Amino acid sequence: MDDGPLDEGLHYWVPFTPNRSFKKDPRLLVRAQGMYFWNARGERLLDACSGLFCCALGHGRPEILDAVSRQYRELDFAPPFQYSHPDAFELAGMLARVTPADLDHLFFVNSGSEAVDTAMKIALLYHRSRGEAERQRFVTRERAYHGVNFGGVSLSGMVRNREAFGSGLPGTLHLRHTWLASNRFAPGQGEHGAELADDLQRFVDLHGAGTIAACFVEPIAGSTGILVPPRGYLERLREICDRHGILLVFDEVITGFGRTGRAFASDSFGVVPDLMTMAKALTNGAIPMGAVAVRRGIYEAITGAAPEGAIEFFHGYTYSAHPLACAAGIATQRIHRDEGIFERAAQLAPRFQESVFALRRHALVRDIRGYGLLAGIDLEPDAAPGVRGARAIQRFFDAGLVVRVTGDTLILAPALVAEPEHLETLFEIVDRVMTSL
Ligand SMILES: Cc1ncc(COP(=O)(O)O)c(C=O)c1O
Repeated sequence: MDDGPLDEGLHYWVPFTPNRSFKKDPRLLVRAQGMYFWNARGERLLDACSGLFCCALGHGRPEILDAVSRQYRELDFAPPFQYSHPDAFELAGMLARVTPADLDHLFFVNSGSEAVDTAMKIALLYHRSRGEAERQRFVTRERAYHGVNFGGVSLSGMVRNREAFGSGLPGTLHLRHTWLASNRFAPGQGEHGAELADDLQRFVDLHGAGTIAACFVEPIAGSTGILVPPRGYLERLREICDRHGILLVFDEVITGFGRTGRAFASDSFGVVPDLMTMAKALTNGAIPMGAVAVRRGIYEAITGAAPEGAIEFFHGYTYSAHPLACAAGIATQRIHRDEGIFERAAQLAPRFQESVFALRRHALVRDIRGYGLLAGIDLEPDAAPGVRGARAIQRFFDAGLVVRVTGDTLILAPALVAEPEHLETLFEIVDRVMTSL
């Protein structure tokens, strides 16, 4: 086997990455512990984005390692259709205790993308089970990211994620996004823009309420740069959905499990959806897993519509509720509970947000948005969109920081267990690198 230097000819196709240039000098992470990664040269890098919003409890938690290795010895796999295992029930029960209101039925999947597609199917089936099968349209939003499967791509509002892949699901309607110049540099929820939710009413007026199954939104749009909902916006979406029998779905894949300072963004904003998707921090990134939380009435309507003994929902994945993922999920939920992780995030958030908004002093910063332990910092584009962003990833990496950059927007989402000194280091590096971008 040739173990020469990495080059373009390598076999691994790296996702969402410019492969040819990346492979000339790949940013390889070879070890992780706590708040840090180590690169191939043995240098330590602070993780400013919890892996990819997953490792909210820091890397390498021994409790999760023990739970997963114990599970592998005990039960490596159990068929998820027509059979199950106790940990699937236990994890569902634990999640039901932290999800809002009566979103207390859990369907397990393996990723955020699968959670979104599953939620779309549940919405369709719910209406069908109540004799409203003509409700087939989905409403979503510009600048949304709902994963990469065909359902999620249809819902997505990011042109590069859509344009190459055909027309997607017919009848998908996009609300306007919620970025407004008048909210620039507004901490938390901006004052302006609640009326953008009225786009949903316009779709109802144009297409008829009876054609719309569900409205999907990320309570805070994550992947397009942390767009915090304007004050009153989510409330208004909720009202319009209620008025017209439309299900409201919150995609909490990024915002779930303490990122906003409460268990879910739904709690932080005081708006309860009908379905909620989650993934990422559910297992602290240790084993892939996602889930859809479903209101009890929706579960009961669907299961009640099928004859006793018949399968109610023709859907599921070979790895739904995988025993190793359940073990990681249970261990993660225990840490959330026992260490008061959501409260801890809430305590750390003001200090984090203060440092984020102080970055405004850099001339190339065009806007800053943030909530909880989540922030987006727009940089002035260079010659072409994304050029400065790409340069930023490398410069931060060289300076010892792993960040997420989308276009020319820097995204910060440190682990919820970060200590104040980690934040100091993080912002010291951001400040320093910002002057050289
Ligand atoms: C809001 C949202 N939904 C869905 C997804 C897709 O999740 P996954 O990459 O696990 O498929 C993501 C990923 O970032 C996301 O942010």
